[in-house]
Amino acid sequence: MKLTIVDRAGQSIELENVSAPTLMRAISDAGLDLTAQCGGCASCGTCHVYVDEALLSKLKPVDENEDAMLDVAPERRQNSRLACQIPLSEELDGLTVTLAPGSSFEEA
Ligand code: FES
Repeated sequence: MKLTIVDRAGQSIELENVSAPTLMRAISDAGLDLTAQCGGCASCGTCHVYVDEALLSKLKPVDENEDAMLDVAPERRQNSRLACQIPLSEELDGLTVTLAPGSSFEEA
């Protein structure tokens, strides 16, 4: 599958043949600047991304844990998600996400 990641400088990076299990892992594997401090258990908020509206409705809904973490993440928006809570599937092929600014509590 293919993903497009927009980094914090506004640069689009195309990832081809992605086979990572989650969006967080795909972004980390590509060497992009995503802290993902807790390793993917929705307890750090450092994998905060903005999901392109086109495929937002295809994602599983935000659960209670993710919602609580997003509430304390800097600059939460309506399309904010934690990348570690987004399993990748062919349904999400072509997904574009933008790394949220200062996706780390240290920078908040
Ligand atoms: S990696 Fe920590 S919340 Fe996603």
